[in-house]
Amino acid sequence: MAGWQFPGIAHGADYYPEQWLDRPEILEADLEMMVKARVNLVTLGVFAWAMEEPEEGVFRFDWLRERLDALHARGIRVLLATPSGARPNWLAEKYPEVQRVGEDRRRNLPGMRMNHCYTSPVYRRLTQRIDTELARRFARHPAVVGWHISNEYHGECHCPLCQEAFRGWLQRRYGTLERLNAAWWTGFWSKHYTDWRQIASPSSLGERALPALRVDWLRFVTDQTRDFMSMEVEAVRPFNPVLPVTTNMIGRLIEIDTPRFRDLLDVAALDIYPEWGSGDDAAVADAAAMEHDLTRCLLDKPYLLLETTPSMTNWQAVGQPKRPGMHMLCAMQAIAHGADAFMMFQWRKARGGFEKFHGAVVSHDGRDDTRVFREVAETGARLARLGELKGSVTHAQAALIFDWNNRWAIGACKGPREGIDPDGEALAHYRALAALGIDVDVIDSEHGLDDYRLVCAPMLYMLKSGVAERLERFVCGGGTLLMTCFSALTDESDLCFDTGAPGPLRKLLGLRVEELDTLYPHQRNRVRFAPDGPLGGMEAAECDFWCEILHAETAETAAVYESDYYRGMPAVTRNRFGDGEAWYLGTRLGLDALRKVHASLSARAGIALQASGLSKGVRVHCREKDGVRYLFLLNFGDEPGNATIPPCVNLETGQPAGGMMVVPARQALVFRQAAFHARD
Ligand code: GAL
Repeated sequence: MAGWQFPGIAHGADYYPEQWLDRPEILEADLEMMVKARVNLVTLGVFAWAMEEPEEGVFRFDWLRERLDALHARGIRVLLATPSGARPNWLAEKYPEVQRVGEDRRRNLPGMRMNHCYTSPVYRRLTQRIDTELARRFARHPAVVGWHISNEYHGECHCPLCQEAFRGWLQRRYGTLERLNAAWWTGFWSKHYTDWRQIASPSSLGERALPALRVDWLRFVTDQTRDFMSMEVEAVRPFNPVLPVTTNMIGRLIEIDTPRFRDLLDVAALDIYPEWGSGDDAAVADAAAMEHDLTRCLLDKPYLLLETTPSMTNWQAVGQPKRPGMHMLCAMQAIAHGADAFMMFQWRKARGGFEKFHGAVVSHDGRDDTRVFREVAETGARLARLGELKGSVTHAQAALIFDWNNRWAIGACKGPREGIDPDGEALAHYRALAALGIDVDVIDSEHGLDDYRLVCAPMLYMLKSGVAERLERFVCGGGTLLMTCFSALTDESDLCFDTGAPGPLRKLLGLRVEELDTLYPHQRNRVRFAPDGPLGGMEAAECDFWCEILHAETAETAAVYESDYYRGMPAVTRNRFGDGEAWYLGTRLGLDALRKVHASLSARAGIALQASGLSKGVRVHCREKDGVRYLFLLNFGDEPGNATIPPCVNLETGQPAGGMMVVPARQALVFRQAAFHARD
């Protein structure tokens, strides 16, 4: 099996030399500057199809070979991309079927990128051919260390070919129309299907009131994307089976159930563009951190950060350059979360085109005496010194369940109120744990739970089959589970449990939900913690948005509502189950209260903190390897921040460290702690 074998931490950028083939002095200068910037890896060939196959069946790879040779001569390695993210115009012109069709059933004109149908046999055939030609020539080139398959797979196509494939997918899933009708509850509003041909993808012009159709459509889109990707992987793999394969993903920005890519990838990869400066940078950092953890947990091992800007983007509302120090801090954040590569988009700014004002290591003036270049070079030098971190892993004791099917089901659901935000809810819990200095694995609901002491499953509205049993086993074996409002309402088909909520989790949680009260924005309630209850000592806290009216059956009441017709009824409960505890939070608490709840639950769960007394904006992360623990302190605040850590040494200075450490504003420190006991 292929694996990521890169020596040390990779540092580099997307490199598009095809734009300067007529300027050899620029190509040469780029190589010199790459060496200065401590670039040791570049991504090459993303979107280069028109250069590689200027006419159908006519291949031109000399320029690519020259670039590969030149990079190799400088000791710079290459992640070679398949070019399927954008088609040449000849292809679009000759085969109109490859252009995507929107949900309004209108076919796109040629142009743009990511404007292709994953079902189209023509697109598949031509992609497979260019990938094969590329792999035949370069899979064993000494500079090439891996495959970058396509670019940020996403999007959907509603063309007739996709409709047909969708119906085939449904036939395989349900077998008979009867089963499909039952699963989609088509008895309501006369939606009963009597022929497979009647089924079409959801559309704002047509069926948009059948939530289960929407969820199945997105499952199909995921599978179709996966199938296309698998075709690309199979096209390149045979030419060098040990070359690792990755694809750059964009976390929660897309409606693709990326855990379904798991078995196709040797190493996972992330592109991320946090909007630093748009608000509280610690909040921006936490949102980014969650994406990092989501990516790491895809394969539960180090991943690659493949794109982030060294300065600014050209597509965010405010394209603000990163403030001094922020680029380095971003790199350290990636490494702290388990990345073994820190790469940028892009090496050199294009002179024309859509992204000509997007940040790059080298700007239009081609200079290397700029602030951005200096910061990139300093980052590269630091990553080179941190090479021993490569391959170290994160052993999180807490996990957060984030599940795309659940997100789609909630998104497709009409009511019970507007603004239901599973991502926001997940992030709130993630932030509460991050502020305590707890490493979190962000996992889908099918991921194993054995490694965790605490599992938080916020707003797990849809319980896919097997999940209830897995959660039960986890708690029974001694785990601590926290679930929240609007959970366990529907099964995998989005059918409400006919026992009410929390369906099959009633025994585990020891309660039932009678009603859901949703609050107007100006309305508030409060929860009061029972002094002798399991969260006794916590101050009363405000809650908003919604309040579930719970009946504790075997559960103990940890807090009650203070007002309204359910005053005095349980708002927070704890149920002992086997050797563990299942907690339920029936309402929405503010971040501060949530942090206190998590502080208490994680302590009860036996999670040992690697640092304490964290200032606001300071985050802690650990990686481990060969009996050594690496401890990262990151400060996203504008002021120096503190954290108290165990005795260790500063990895970079070799100085003894420990106790209360001061982390300067927007900086990161890395420590080395030897001879610890795994999972201390
Ligand atoms: C990414 C994309 C790159 C570039 C970048 C700009 O999403 O993969 O090709 O467009 O955004 O920020």
